[in-house]
Amino acid sequence: MIQASTVRQIAAGLTATAVFLCLSSVVQAADLEAGKAMSQTCIACHGPGGNSVTPGVPSISGHAAQAIGMQLYNYREGNRKNAQMSPMAANLTNAEMNNLAAYFASEKVTAPQHKASEENAKLGPALTQQYNCTQCHGAALKGIQHIPRIAGQQYDYLLTQLQGFKAHTRWDMDGNMTSALSVVKESDIPILADYIAGLTDQ
Ligand code: HEC
Ligand code: HEC
Repeated sequence: MIQASTVRQIAAGLTATAVFLCLSSVVQAADLEAGKAMSQTCIACHGPGGNSVTPGVPSISGHAAQAIGMQLYNYREGNRKNAQMSPMAANLTNAEMNNLAAYFASEKVTAPQHKASEENAKLGPALTQQYNCTQCHGAALKGIQHIPRIAGQQYDYLLTQLQGFKAHTRWDMDGNMTSALSVVKESDIPILADYIAGLTDQ
């Protein structure tokens, strides 16, 4: 049974999404150069071009611009909270968020340092289909529109996010991830994270 609190959470997420889409449609086209100029503070944590080399800090290179902008919006509005990231988004304007999103979206994704175990590399493809991960995140898990890229993402980050969705502690803009994870076996979470973190574009 879906609880009232879950319904409220989903409703809040949808409102936030609708507001963000409205705001982004009235601002002028994103300015990639302005985004690049502002990216210096970001790459201190997210790595050169947004390719993270720090466990626990997500890569943001090559995500769809909409996915990046949406997350920045959610941190700024306090929907998604994190001690390191929330202060970074707190004072960004909508135009600045769009510019930063356009810049990081345009950056090339480098090969991940992570290498999946042979066993998990074999189990991963069937699991990501069985659990519909590929339906939403795309066949190669590179993300689509507001749905984030997960291929080659930091292992520790993937693990904490998936565990957070499973435990209902991670912000979920539309409830899709919480329901996706409700059918995922606990023991499959580390297998999924290991396999996905090792996926490379090269
Ligand atoms: C002090 C380190 C730090 C700085 C500086 C920082 N971030 Fe972050 N960022 C993080 C961490 C840690 C997370 C993951 C937080 C969480 O688990 O919610 C994150 C998450 C994000 C996400 C969500 C990624 C995803 O896959 O969901 C985006 C987008 C993002 N940051 C963009 C930026 C931008 C743009 C800047 C510069 C304006 C920036 N960050 C500066 C540490 C930082
Ligand atoms: C029905 C669509 C849907 C399905 C199925 C789905 N996802 Fe997601 N996923 C999303 C959306 C939408 C988000 C963004 C949620 C948010 O940030 O509020 C997301 C976010 C995530 C994140 C966080 C990424 C980040 O950068 O913060 C991870 C990790 C993830 N999904 C992995 C998976 C895995 C693994 C599966 C399969 C077990 C899966 N997803 C199935 C739609 C889906």
